[in-house]
Amino acid sequence: MNAVIYLYSYHHGNTRKVAEAMANVLSAPIVELEDDGTARNSDTSGYDLIGFGAGIDRGKHYKQILDYAESLPQASGKKAFIFSTAGIYNEKKKLKDHAALRNILAARGFEIVGEFSCLGFDTIIGILKLFGGLNKGRPNAEDLERAKAFAVGLTK
Ligand SMILES: Cc1cc2nc3c(=O)[nH]c(=O)nc-3n(C[C@H](O)[C@H](O)[C@H](O)COP(=O)(O)O)c2cc1C
Repeated sequence: MNAVIYLYSYHHGNTRKVAEAMANVLSAPIVELEDDGTARNSDTSGYDLIGFGAGIDRGKHYKQILDYAESLPQASGKKAFIFSTAGIYNEKKKLKDHAALRNILAARGFEIVGEFSCLGFDTIIGILKLFGGLNKGRPNAEDLERAKAFAVGLTK
């Protein structure tokens, strides 16, 4: 399986850590999106599995990855997976937070084969900074092991 991962991670590099764990398992290059939601290497033609990951901002993936997904041509059955890190995480919230990106990719003809999320260090609210932030140290080793296991699952 030939995989590539598109990523936008800026708050604390939390989602980058998850992307790197998955990329190691999948032998996938990571393409970091520009601030305007474009990619230097946007040629997905050689890949049959494409990952899309970013932090969560007000209940959706960052705008940059949503814009990038919107810009993609019809994928006709290419496989995709979605991942994120967030200040608050549970499986139900993950599915809700991922809906915007999932719907864009589904409309482009992608087959979504998996979704992953975990907690990420969060200092967005000023008061959080004062108390050292939320989820310090996340993603942690256990989160990254879970990300790797998720990626292994994608290869089967
Ligand atoms: C502008 C902004 C808005 C955020 N909104 C949410 C949110 O709606 N829900 C949530 O669970 N976390 C939210 N967070 C926390 C981030 O999703 C979390 O810290 C994430 O791990 C950041 O990923 P990154 O370091 O890869 O950019 C927000 C963070 C930022 C910077």
